[in-house]
Amino acid sequence: MTRYIVVASGKGGVGKTTIAANLAVALAMFGKRTAVIDTDIVMANLEIILGLRNPPVALIDVLSGRLNIKDIMYEGPEGVKIIPAGITLDGFSEQNMEMLKASIKEIPKNIEILVIDAPAGRDASMVMDEGQEVLIVTIPQVSSISDALKMKILAEKMGGKTIGVVLNMVENRAREVTIEEVENTIDSNVISIIPSDDKVKEALAYEMPFVVRYPESRPSREILRLAAGLIGKDYHPPESIFSRITDFIVGLRNGKV
Ligand SMILES: Nc1ncnc2c1ncn2[C@@H]1O[C@H](COP(=O)(O)OP(=O)(O)OP(=O)(O)O)[C@@H](O)[C@H]1O
Ligand SMILES: [Mg+2]
Repeated sequence: MTRYIVVASGKGGVGKTTIAANLAVALAMFGKRTAVIDTDIVMANLEIILGLRNPPVALIDVLSGRLNIKDIMYEGPEGVKIIPAGITLDGFSEQNMEMLKASIKEIPKNIEILVIDAPAGRDASMVMDEGQEVLIVTIPQVSSISDALKMKILAEKMGGKTIGVVLNMVENRAREVTIEEVENTIDSNVISIIPSDDKVKEALAYEMPFVVRYPESRPSREILRLAAGLIGKDYHPPESIFSRITDFIVGLRNGKV
């Protein structure tokens, strides 16, 4: 049976698409047959992160009833399958919403994990369904965290199970909310901490996921660790000279060395 992992957030712009794309590629790197779907019809951009240019057909063609989900799966980095949203200015209709949930269920059985890049906020309910695992992405700011809690409540109302919080764009600054505060507010464990890192944006310029372009960067190691945890694998980050130096520099900057 396919596992559905929804990447959701209360606030927009906190890194859902970035994390969904890189997590899916990381799962594929570990040998899982993985697909990733962009369900943000209004602001689709997953395909760009994964280097897929102008796909001729996309999810909008499935929602209009013309195609089946298996017809719009494209080959991406490391063999991950990409399901792009396509572009429409019309947004969703009620009928589209029902179609979307039905199409997600029609994902070919050979896909072991489907990572779902959900729209921000309440619109996420258009993809959320019974039996899904939900990752809540937030940044370490008070307003983002209170919205993350609302998202967790929504996900559970829709029948999903929160499997943890991904704390993204962490800079280890004093003004940031602590992990303990995040866990207490959202009532869920922080299972991944991803630093704010220029490599995330640099990879975008190459239209490649950072986990492929910069596999030894800190965000990549964190995503690989998260992916490994989700599938019960052990992962030990490569102890390259480079990663040791970056660890040292980051530690120095944060006054930890
Ligand atoms: N760890 C990080 N370090 C640096 N930049 C990051 C990091 N994570 C995400 N970004 C950048 O932040 C911006 C927003 O990320 P992204 O598009 O993934 O967010 P989103 O939650 O999907 O947004 P939306 O709600 O609009 O769909 C992008 O420019 C992305 O490159
Ligand atoms: Mg997005």
